[in-house]
Amino acid sequence: HSAHLTVDPHFTVGKIQRQLFGGFVEHLGRHVYDGIHEPGHPRADADGFRTDVVELVRELGVSTIRYPGGNFVSGFKWEDSVGPVAERPRRLDLAWHSTETNEVGLHEFQTWLDKVGSELMLAVNLGTRGTQEAIDLLEYTNIASGTALSQRRIDNGRTDPFGVTMWCLGNEMDGPWQLGHRSADDYGKIASRTAKAMRQLDPDIELVVCGSSSAAMPTFGEWERVVLTHTYEDVDYISCHAYYEETDGDLGSFLASSVDMDRFIESVVATADHVKAVLRSDKTINISFDEWNVWYLSRFRNVDKIEGVDNWPIAPRLLEDVYSVADAVVFGNLMISLLRHADRVTSASLAQLVNVIAPIMTEPGGPAWRQSTFFPFSITSRLAQGEALRLELKTPTYETAEYGEVPLVDAVATHDGDTKRSALFLVNRSQDQSVELTVDIRALGDVSVLEQHTLSDADVYAKNTLNDRERVGVDSTPNHEIVDGTITVVLPPVSWSALALG
Ligand code: AHR
Repeated sequence: HSAHLTVDPHFTVGKIQRQLFGGFVEHLGRHVYDGIHEPGHPRADADGFRTDVVELVRELGVSTIRYPGGNFVSGFKWEDSVGPVAERPRRLDLAWHSTETNEVGLHEFQTWLDKVGSELMLAVNLGTRGTQEAIDLLEYTNIASGTALSQRRIDNGRTDPFGVTMWCLGNEMDGPWQLGHRSADDYGKIASRTAKAMRQLDPDIELVVCGSSSAAMPTFGEWERVVLTHTYEDVDYISCHAYYEETDGDLGSFLASSVDMDRFIESVVATADHVKAVLRSDKTINISFDEWNVWYLSRFRNVDKIEGVDNWPIAPRLLEDVYSVADAVVFGNLMISLLRHADRVTSASLAQLVNVIAPIMTEPGGPAWRQSTFFPFSITSRLAQGEALRLELKTPTYETAEYGEVPLVDAVATHDGDTKRSALFLVNRSQDQSVELTVDIRALGDVSVLEQHTLSDADVYAKNTLNDRERVGVDSTPNHEIVDGTITVVLPPVSWSALALG
């Protein structure tokens, strides 16, 4: 097969916001406890945080980190997670049927964020709580001093405000599994009231209202319309969540998951713009794609689920998906989809970060390692700078059961006008054929390939595991030709590649 691409830095989609490379830490399974925090571990620092995990999170290159949930937040009392650790209550976490010890709370998490160099994005509980608790938390985090709750923060050891800018108004409030889930109308009303109150307290915050918990929800589309009709002038973003998995051995459809993500994004943009038209508003609502990943959700539903009124484990092994090369190729392709929509997807969070559907795994008392999905994230986050470009791509297609006829090759390019550096991110979805891709880069001037990385394997189901932690990685050997302003690269079957040019 062959494909052809033209890159021109004048054809821009939009500026790539660093927030696009965000992450997500939920109090779930072994994410916080025995993941980022393990005081007895040989590599733990004085605060009990694993330094090997801190190093990997830094290498991954995550910007803003959404916290503390997810489904967890809909039953969370933030007051439980501050103050002297020994006095914090143990609570039932109904979302994940676990015990929450509150040993790590808001202050400890901020300490960890300072170590990894990421910013805090907080979610408020609109499941079992409401407007008052949301503004209490905002007063605690963002008011400098002179009030009861800011003083409480100072007494708890932090003089400076947390200064949290990004706030989620609840989580997946359309989902019947969500504590306190509501109809679009009810949620739209409480989200609008809470948003207004929060802005009265701090006008500089940015607010994310919940979109559908997936495009497969029966209310998808209508939920967005109703919720935005209530909240349009009160919020800045609407959220999208999407998880993909291979089902029934249909690798062809799975490899085309980003086609679904593209359609999802474009439908939400269309719905938001429809509400904008109806309201005659000057404002544009963007997307916070604040949960995305490959997740074998069917395994969680059928195997992992914890039940029983006497059974509330602390930090159980939950959602510990082990990712393959094929998963990483799809994952890299999802990042291509996010970048291609950089004009409207201006914030995103990979769900999640450590142990729980995560690019980083740990073993208690043992090592930490990179899953296959680590590589496309770290490389894309580092190389995708400046603006996303609109491409002219000519590619063969193939037929899928899920999405019909889809492109065999997918690609996005980025260009930084200041450094004059560009990057190309490429996927070959063919299961058995290489693709020879030619890229017309004449419009970029006299550039050469600075880096080339390819993720592929004869065994597309190869994985990194505790006993074989470096089985999967990227091949960074240069393997291209440049003749008369055209680069030729060969994309192996089921592969993700990145090229840096400059
Ligand atoms: O990321 C795991 C879970 O997926 C989150 O808690 C929830 O928001 C979503 O359903």
